[in-house]
Amino acid sequence: MSDPLPAATKAPRSTALRGSLIFCRDDPFLTDPATAFCYEPDGLVLCSDGVIVATGPVATIKPLLQSDTTIADYSGCLIAPGFIDTHIHYVQTGVIGSQGKDLLDWLERYTFIAEQAFADPQVAASTARVFCEELLRNGTTTALVFCSVHAGSVDALFTEAARHNLRLIAGKVLMDRNAPPALCDTAQSSYDQSKALIARWHGRGRALYAITPRFAGSSTPEQLEAAGALWREHPDVVMQSHISESLREIEFIRATFPERRNYLDVYDHFGLIGRRSVYAHGIHLDESELCRCHESGTALAHCPTSNTFLGSGLFRMRNVRDPRRPVEVGLGTDIGGGTSFSLIATMGEAFKVSQLAGQPITPVEALYVATLGGARALALEDRLGTLAPGREADLVVLDPRATPVLAFRSGRVRSIEEQLAVLMTLGDDRAVRATYVAGELAHTRTSEARG
Ligand code: GUN
Ligand code: ZN
Repeated sequence: MSDPLPAATKAPRSTALRGSLIFCRDDPFLTDPATAFCYEPDGLVLCSDGVIVATGPVATIKPLLQSDTTIADYSGCLIAPGFIDTHIHYVQTGVIGSQGKDLLDWLERYTFIAEQAFADPQVAASTARVFCEELLRNGTTTALVFCSVHAGSVDALFTEAARHNLRLIAGKVLMDRNAPPALCDTAQSSYDQSKALIARWHGRGRALYAITPRFAGSSTPEQLEAAGALWREHPDVVMQSHISESLREIEFIRATFPERRNYLDVYDHFGLIGRRSVYAHGIHLDESELCRCHESGTALAHCPTSNTFLGSGLFRMRNVRDPRRPVEVGLGTDIGGGTSFSLIATMGEAFKVSQLAGQPITPVEALYVATLGGARALALEDRLGTLAPGREADLVVLDPRATPVLAFRSGRVRSIEEQLAVLMTLGDDRAVRATYVAGELAHTRTSEARG
C-alpha cells in the first residue's frame, strides 16, 4: 500500500504506556487512603497531544486505542505522575554538599559566593543545562525554582526548560540587604526586572513565573512592599520564599521586624501570603501561624534532606496536615541545601524525619506530597499531579528492580504500599526507568547505565 505522507508527519500523536499504575486521586491525610490512592496492577495510560486521555486496566483501555497508537511496554514497572519539586535553587547545583555550621553560616560561606557567578550568562546557561537534565533523570517534571538575583539567570533557565518542554515555575531572587553588594538589587529594580520577566515568560509555552523574595531577612520593607504590589498586579503568578527554617534565622527576623507578631506576619503584612504562595520549610511555625496558613491557602514546601543537612530541625508533617486545619504541603529537594535531586530519595527522608518527629507518615502520604500535594500547593491540580483524563501527560516510570538489592528486596514485598516503602528507601535516579514530558519520552535509562 502506498502512503503519500512524508515520514515526519506519520509520527503517531498518541502513545500508550503499559505498567502498574500508582497515583493519588485525593488527599490521603484527609480522606480514606484506600480511596485516595489508586493502584492498577496491569494498566494503560493513553496520551494524546500532550495530555492524558484515558487510564485504567489494560482490558478496558486497549479497545480504545487507534491502530497507529504505539504502546510502550513497561510491564513490571510502576507508572506514576511525574514528580513535583516545590522548592529548589538551580543556581546552587554547584554547592551541594558544602558543610556549613547552620543555615546562616552556609549562606554566607558558600551560597552567596556561588550565586555571584550567575552574573555571567554562560555560567547560567551551562548550569541550567545540567539542572534540567538532572530533573529529567530523576523523574521530576515540574519544579518551583529559585534563580539568582540576576534577571539573566531566569532567561537561561526558561530557555533551557523550553528545549525540554518542561513545566518550570521560576523567578529572579529579590534581595536588597544583608547580602554581598554584588547580590543586591533595589526595591525599584527588583520590581521593574520581575515585571519585565513576567511579561517575557509567564505563560510562554509551559513556563510560569514566581515572584521570589529570598526571605524576609534579605529584603527591606520597601522591597517587600514592591513584591506585594507586583503580586496584586499579577495575581496569577506564584509567590515563593523561605520561612521558619532555623531558630537563629527566626531570631534574626524577630530582631529585624520587631513590630510584627511572628515570622508569617511579616509576609502577611506585605500581602505576600495566600493561594498560589509556597514557603519553603516552615519547620518552627507555631499553631497560630499554621492556622493562618490554612485559612489563607498558603502552602509549605517540606525539604527533609536540607533540614537534616543544615541541622535546621524536624518538620512535623502530621501536625502541619492536621485535618482540623490542614496546611497544603509539597515536597522539595532544596538543592543545594538539600542533598539529592531525587524525590524518591526525598520521600524516604521525609519518612525518616517524620519518625524522628514522632509522627511517621505512610508511603502513600509520601507519594501524595511528591505529586498531587505539590500540584495543589502550586494551584495546578487541574493540570498536574494525578493520572486522570485531561491532565498533562507528565509521567515517571519506576523500576522496582533497578539495582540488585532493589530486585532482591522487591521480590519479597507483599503489597503495593510495601513496594513503595522499599522504593523510597533504596531508590533514587537509578530507579527512574523513563520520564515522559507532555506525552513525549524525555529520558530513558539505558541498559548499560542500569548494569
Ligand atoms: N533562606 C534564605 N536563603 C536560603 C537559601 O538559599 N537556602 C535555604 N535553605 N534557606 C534560605
Ligand atoms: Zn531554599
